[in-house]
Amino acid sequence: MENKANGISEDLELPKISYGNVGLDNILGGGIDPERMYLFEGQPGSGKTTLALEFLLEGVRRGEPTLYITLSETERELRLVAKRHGWSLRGITIFELIPPETSLDPSQELTVLHPAEMELSETTQMIFARVEALSPARIVVDSLSELRLLAQSPLRYRRQILALKHFFSGRKSTVVLLDDLSSQQNDLQLHSIAHGVVLLEQLAIDYGAQRRRLRVVKMRGIDFKGGFHDFTIKQGGLKVYPRLVAAEHHKDFRNEVVPSGNSELDSLLGGGLERGTNALLIGSAGVGKSSLALTYAIAGAARQERSVIFAFDEGRGTMSARASTLGLPLEDGINKGLIDIKQIDPAEMAPGEFASAVRESVEAGNASIVIIDSLNGYLNSMPDERFLILQMHELLSYLSQCGILTILVLAQHGMVGPMDTPLDISYLADGVILLRYFEFDGSVRRALSVVEKRSGSQENTIREFKLSNKGITVGPPLKGFSGIFSGTPVYKGEAAPLMHRDCDDRG
Ligand SMILES: Nc1ncnc2c1ncn2[C@@H]1O[C@H](COP(=O)(O)OP(=O)(O)OP(=O)(O)O)[C@@H](O)[C@H]1O
Ligand SMILES: [Mg+2]
Repeated sequence: MENKANGISEDLELPKISYGNVGLDNILGGGIDPERMYLFEGQPGSGKTTLALEFLLEGVRRGEPTLYITLSETERELRLVAKRHGWSLRGITIFELIPPETSLDPSQELTVLHPAEMELSETTQMIFARVEALSPARIVVDSLSELRLLAQSPLRYRRQILALKHFFSGRKSTVVLLDDLSSQQNDLQLHSIAHGVVLLEQLAIDYGAQRRRLRVVKMRGIDFKGGFHDFTIKQGGLKVYPRLVAAEHHKDFRNEVVPSGNSELDSLLGGGLERGTNALLIGSAGVGKSSLALTYAIAGAARQERSVIFAFDEGRGTMSARASTLGLPLEDGINKGLIDIKQIDPAEMAPGEFASAVRESVEAGNASIVIIDSLNGYLNSMPDERFLILQMHELLSYLSQCGILTILVLAQHGMVGPMDTPLDISYLADGVILLRYFEFDGSVRRALSVVEKRSGSQENTIREFKLSNKGITVGPPLKGFSGIFSGTPVYKGEAAPLMHRDCDDRG
């Protein structure tokens, strides 16, 4: 509690300080209030120590005295963790308060033998003494669980926490308390004492790497970004991916068509696909969805426009090989830096990390065409289909507001006949292009149709298309057939409008 003599108004005006983690600072709208007490809670292994070290390292960067009070991990363990992250702990005072064998200091050894209450107050007294001697600007207490154990009763524990709070409030220290959530009940009292609370979580999913996420539970006086934010721990520390909020982003862009480089296709699309919209390409495996998506990137590169392809299903090698059989100059676009293929392993990448990669391509990489190939792969990176729809909704709104043409690829199960769509996302799409195999007179052919387009007027016809070393060729509307999308059409007309099959035909 501030007293008048310290000057309340002065206290109120203290500018926020950087926590020491870019993502967390972003979620908190710039940083945290100094000289307050914060609580970081999370199960063992959730990343508390790592995040706490980043807080102190920021203090060191600012030339502040910093103190790490550890009741759980030994100094050696801490140093090892820091070393693995490539951090030097020089400038951070580590105060190891772990009782029995590890401590050789007789005064500390005594504390083990004392009755619990003595031991607890001695521990806090030692903390106080150390803080008074050092006057650190940033303090970490790792962790409260040990204090809770020493206290034995919730009442005594609470009294100690209040004593800690009281002690720190008179000092110019910003304090981060860690708690590993080992107490059975949710510690709301602790929450009410802290100025801010951040929860760290680690989730095991059925397949692939564990998912980490954090949530700011409370932060007094700060309009923080609510909800869960994915994060990863990699060498070098915590990388937090602030949740994408589409409404926060907007770019001015021209309302114009993005040519595909194929006039037949553009006319089928009623002029073409527009900037700031998305198109969903649906069809069976191998029917030509990725090739169709690729033509947009190639045509973009010819206009010096940048595209990014998020490849969930195929490697760059497969993609290049296909492009060269189709006579599409993909390598050329890549070499000129106009086409960027980002291979994504959905088992390893959290959705938040993916969204952040998309943002980076758009904001730093200046991409104006984004291709996600395929949503089936993206779905695998999600714990739940519901999340995909929600996240896709946010991502697509974001891309739309930035004037990006987004092409989504979705594979259906089945080849001809009844098809099964694994994910109903068509209502999020501005346009849906359906690609189908059909069989006619003993050969397999391909057809495409625009079944939905929100802006402009598309053709309601079905056209045959071919993949050859000349890329994608779209034929005239298929008139006189019925049941093309059933896979086995019946021809009812007089002159067959099907395309000639030449030796280059890959169909
Ligand atoms: N150098 C590193 N590179 C990548 N990941 C690392 C590295 N060092 C630690 N980690 C990850 O960080 C996790 C532990 O983080 P941390 O020690 O901060 O958790 P904690 O919440 O403090 O755990 P505890 O409750 O056990 O103290 C480990 O599970 C490990 O996967
Ligand atoms: Mg720890």
